[in-house]
Amino acid sequence: MNILVIGTGYVGTTTALVFAEIGWNVTGLDVDPQKIEHLRQGKLHFYEPGLEGLLKKHLGTKRIRFTTDKKEAIENNAIIFICVGTPSLPDGRADLRYVKQAAEDIGRHMNGDKLIINKSTVPVGTQELVTGWTRDARTVPYPFEVASNPEFLREGKALMDALQPDRIIIGTNSDNVAKRIGKLYESMQCPIIVTTPRTAEFTKYAANAFLATKISFINELARLSDRLGVNVKEVAYGIGLDNRIGPSFLQAGIGYGGSCFPKDVAALLNMAEHNDVELKLLKKVVHVNQRQHLYMLQKVREQIGNLAGKRIALLGLAFKPDTDDIREAPAIRMIQKLRNEKAYVQVYDPIAALPPELMDERVKFGSSPEETMKGADAAIICTEWPMFLKIDWVQVKDSMNAPNLFDGRNLLDAGQMKDIGFYYQGIGYS
Ligand code: UDX
Repeated sequence: MNILVIGTGYVGTTTALVFAEIGWNVTGLDVDPQKIEHLRQGKLHFYEPGLEGLLKKHLGTKRIRFTTDKKEAIENNAIIFICVGTPSLPDGRADLRYVKQAAEDIGRHMNGDKLIINKSTVPVGTQELVTGWTRDARTVPYPFEVASNPEFLREGKALMDALQPDRIIIGTNSDNVAKRIGKLYESMQCPIIVTTPRTAEFTKYAANAFLATKISFINELARLSDRLGVNVKEVAYGIGLDNRIGPSFLQAGIGYGGSCFPKDVAALLNMAEHNDVELKLLKKVVHVNQRQHLYMLQKVREQIGNLAGKRIALLGLAFKPDTDDIREAPAIRMIQKLRNEKAYVQVYDPIAALPPELMDERVKFGSSPEETMKGADAAIICTEWPMFLKIDWVQVKDSMNAPNLFDGRNLLDAGQMKDIGFYYQGIGYS
């Protein structure tokens, strides 16, 4: 089967390569010639474990090719996935301009029956909009269908999530379309849910909103755990074994970030507002998340006093490990706040870079975790990179100005760190 994937960003590239891996012939289309050139050379323009290997494996075979030629790509493929970005507008609404562009391109270059499948995270009702945009751009009234098939990929684990998904959701009102899309995934061992396009679109937002809620819920309980002398990690384990609750997304910390949770929760809140429904709980989820890094900074202040002129080391910039993505990362919020309070900040991350606008005489990027913590009055772990577990903490303790360790991801063993001689505080864990 020939498949076209429009958009070679994170979702598009993963989708294209996974379809190639399971045996289909895939074309990746993008308007950005630089991205396409990179992909043709076997290089990814973002970091994702395992994906470059898959790219190199299939490049040069009939399974995958990349192009910027919209006309040719659309004409040669009857099945077209839309995987373009849907960034947030200032009011939280999803910006659909790239989805619209893709739909119009398909309409304009249509040369026969097309099945258009939207994978981008889009507001409820977008399937109908895509249908209208495509129809209006058609020059000849060829038949076409538009379905919804949301992605649930996590950054850093995209390959695993795409090859072994928990479920596949197909939003269509046509049995024939459901069968055709189901065939694309026939080698995958997971439930396939066929539902209406609106339900499929909504399910994606509901999943992310629920996961964000779990995180803010445990983060709130972590604050109380600190007061009560309770270990929130054990609480999470204890409640997680109840299979009505489940063990994942109960890791307390300095808050969630990334390109999905903040954006999708904002879009869902916006959708609710436009439909005169107030999602009170979800508003609080956002509120808790936006303040969680401040809670950690308060702990730092309680230990070392006013932060002005103090040297603070931050370990980790990425919003989570195994990615170089710093979008909405709590570490970035933390740096901004520390800068406002006139602290000196030394940052280290194994792959994420400090954005130039944050770099100044007060904010520096270190060459290693050890070097970053040298002379610091306090160190704060912002991302749970496994490499931080391998640090020689005995040596670090002696090299710091004061051995104050704040673990924003509850990564280290509190007892061990205290035995070494650190003042150690996690979140709901110490
Ligand atoms: C998420 C969804 O998991 C995925 O299904 C969707 O398609 C896109 O959004 P992603 O943003 O890649 O994926 O990251 P995820 O692993 O879900 O983590 C999101 C954030 O939550 C990170 O900042 C992480 O540190 C934080 N988190 C996660 C916690 O603070 N505690 C947890 O227990 C789990």
